[in-house]
Amino acid sequence: MASAIMVAVTGWDPHPWFERFRASAPERDIRLWPDHMGEAGDIAYACVWKPPPGLLTGLPNLKAIFSLGAGVDHLIDDATLPDVPIVRIVDPDLTMRMTEFVTLQVLMIHRRQRLYDAQQAARHWQDHDQPPASAVSVGIMGLGVLGRDAAQVLRRIGFNVAGWSRTRKAVAGIATFHGPDGLEAFLNRSEILVCLLPHTPATEGILNLALFRSLKRDGALGGAYLINAGRGKLQIDTDIVAALDEGALAGATLDVFPVEPLPPGSPLWSHPGIAITPHNAAASDAHALAANVLNQIARHERGEPFEHVVDRRVGY
Ligand code: NDP
Ligand code: OXD
Repeated sequence: MASAIMVAVTGWDPHPWFERFRASAPERDIRLWPDHMGEAGDIAYACVWKPPPGLLTGLPNLKAIFSLGAGVDHLIDDATLPDVPIVRIVDPDLTMRMTEFVTLQVLMIHRRQRLYDAQQAARHWQDHDQPPASAVSVGIMGLGVLGRDAAQVLRRIGFNVAGWSRTRKAVAGIATFHGPDGLEAFLNRSEILVCLLPHTPATEGILNLALFRSLKRDGALGGAYLINAGRGKLQIDTDIVAALDEGALAGATLDVFPVEPLPPGSPLWSHPGIAITPHNAAASDAHALAANVLNQIARHERGEPFEHVVDRRVGY
């Protein structure tokens, strides 16, 4: 009976993943695509990041596909995907990394750190008024595993936090909105908009000029800010620049882009209102996540169901 685990990763160095799976499960048969894949019929579990389209359909005894990250848009568009469970990562290591990123970026804005950095470069000593966190409204698009944790930490340090999701949610201390009908009211109260949505047909291009114009500009920060750590295809880059130029946005922090790596010629690199990180808001750590996947396989082999199985109908 097929039982091998295959690692198939592009865009990241696959070797740390292969080594980590081998070190964590020395008793298992671990294969590395493409060079050490062996017989396709031996593979029971595929652990993937951006696998080439068509690869997984060629595995006749596949039992499950594991995304090595929280998002699954890197594989779900493959029309040839076999009809086996797609399991995504939900892990405290990844969640904490994202919460660190969101908290850092919200505080960079709230405490005007980039202004103080510029003042330091100019040897300029000047204090600016500092509103309390409770006067600042943060809106989180996507109240899933990552959005909910970030919302709770921001709430804990005093911010006035709201969240928007597809279905109705109740989270203590957080104002919640849902669905297209709840979007405008959610935006109207948000000065810092944090996007932690997945990329699906329903969310593609959602971060556009019309949406930015609905954000709250007259709050404690004196302008509206965007932080996108969800996916690049949620945002329209030219609309971000237009919103900054017309004042609908006062700043944007972008971790993700429609084309990655962000091309050297992109005007986003040099826009004074934009801060860029290279899609590393919450990196997938091989050490933590190989253990997570191996736990899931052990559950399955004990006859228990997989956790965090993707709903293919909604795409996440
Ligand atoms: P979850 O599936 O747990 O949460 C997704 C949230 O988005 C849910 O609250 C869901 O609503 C909401 N949502 C989805 N579609 C819509 C819609 N059409 N309208 C309104 N709300 C919607 O995912 P995670 O929190 O684990 O991860 C979120 C995303 O973060 C990933 O898909 C990935 O793209 C991104 N990510 C980025 C990383 C980075 O380094 N930049 C690292 C890790 C993840 P509901 O709950 O009602 O279904
Ligand atoms: C993820 C990512 O989805 O790193 O986990 O983008």
